[in-house]
Amino acid sequence: MTQPPAGRGVRIVGTGSSVPDQTLSNADLEKILDTSDEWIQQRTGIKTRRVVDKAAGGGTIGLACNSLASAVANTQTDPKDLELVICASVTQEMHCPSAACRAAHHVGATNAAAFDLGAACSGFVYGLNIADTLLRQGRYKKIAVIGSDAMSTVLDYSERSVSILFGDASGAVILESVEDPSLGCIYQSMGADASNWQCLYLPTRQVDVPEVDKDNPIALGNLRMNGREVFKFAVKKFLAVIEDAVEQSGVNIDDISQLICHQSNLRIIESAREKLGLEKERVYVNIDRVGNSSAGSIPLCLDEMNQAGKIKKGEKVLFVAFGGGLTWASSLWQL
Ligand code: COA
Repeated sequence: MTQPPAGRGVRIVGTGSSVPDQTLSNADLEKILDTSDEWIQQRTGIKTRRVVDKAAGGGTIGLACNSLASAVANTQTDPKDLELVICASVTQEMHCPSAACRAAHHVGATNAAAFDLGAACSGFVYGLNIADTLLRQGRYKKIAVIGSDAMSTVLDYSERSVSILFGDASGAVILESVEDPSLGCIYQSMGADASNWQCLYLPTRQVDVPEVDKDNPIALGNLRMNGREVFKFAVKKFLAVIEDAVEQSGVNIDDISQLICHQSNLRIIESAREKLGLEKERVYVNIDRVGNSSAGSIPLCLDEMNQAGKIKKGEKVLFVAFGGGLTWASSLWQL
């Protein structure tokens, strides 16, 4: 569902991010799995990824706390001005309190409401869309949206078809309500279709494991994925979501300076880029360095681009994501 911009506008005040220090390269995976650097790079574009030190207490909450702290510091935001903190994640170590509550507390956002949002890899873009809508209504003045996932904590590293794909990361953005309604999200879409949910899921009870995977040896608490099915869905949906955003918004694709998309797999990103005829410089890629970090992926890209001066005031950028659920989302911004 979409709404034309109304009321107030929204400005991206700034961004932050956090990735673990520890790397897990394809060469490291070759030592524990029957795989090769060549296979992984050809099929996914990934060379290495960052992973938390779980034994030392690393995880999603810590990454979320650090990325929000980095966004607060980078923007010199008074944390007491934050009125809402949303954290998108599928790998929170605790469901109560939420990772958003912990991150808000960590930075001293004592006046903020906080909640977690679960839409898998689409979660951060869902969060952006919700925050923009609340800020436009004028009920909120400043909101932080975080995407944070420690995917390495939900992977079975004896399962080569899944574990090679993912890494850990978190990113955060601080948004504020402004008078000019032309600024902020000018078109948004969100969708979900659970008819094929079994191709990407994270079970915690045996009863939820579908018949097709009953003989699958992966332990509960680990991500299960039918890579081929997800690939087919992603290639089709990624393109469809971008085309929908362009058509419905009336914005010419040539006027969108950057496509900031979920780093699922380089082949999926390249397939869409080529079909749309976009130059490489207009589609940001970091999956080679960090892997697929689910809800952390897009806000990490955004922070890296922001720090590198790749997104500028006056430009239009399009965020696009898809993932477990199956879910998808787009968010077209006038910066
Ligand atoms: N190393 C070496 N060989 C591997 C392997 C690995 N890590 N993983 C699987 N293989 C093998 C398979 O056993 C299979 O062997 P076989 O032909 O002898 O049976 C062969 O490679 C092909 O397997 P398949 O699963 O069909 O590979 P694929 O080309 O579909 O690539 C993915 C696997 C996971 C890289 C790919 O399906 C993918 O990227 N899917 C989308 C996943 C995604 O984006 N998920 C996140 C969504 S947010």
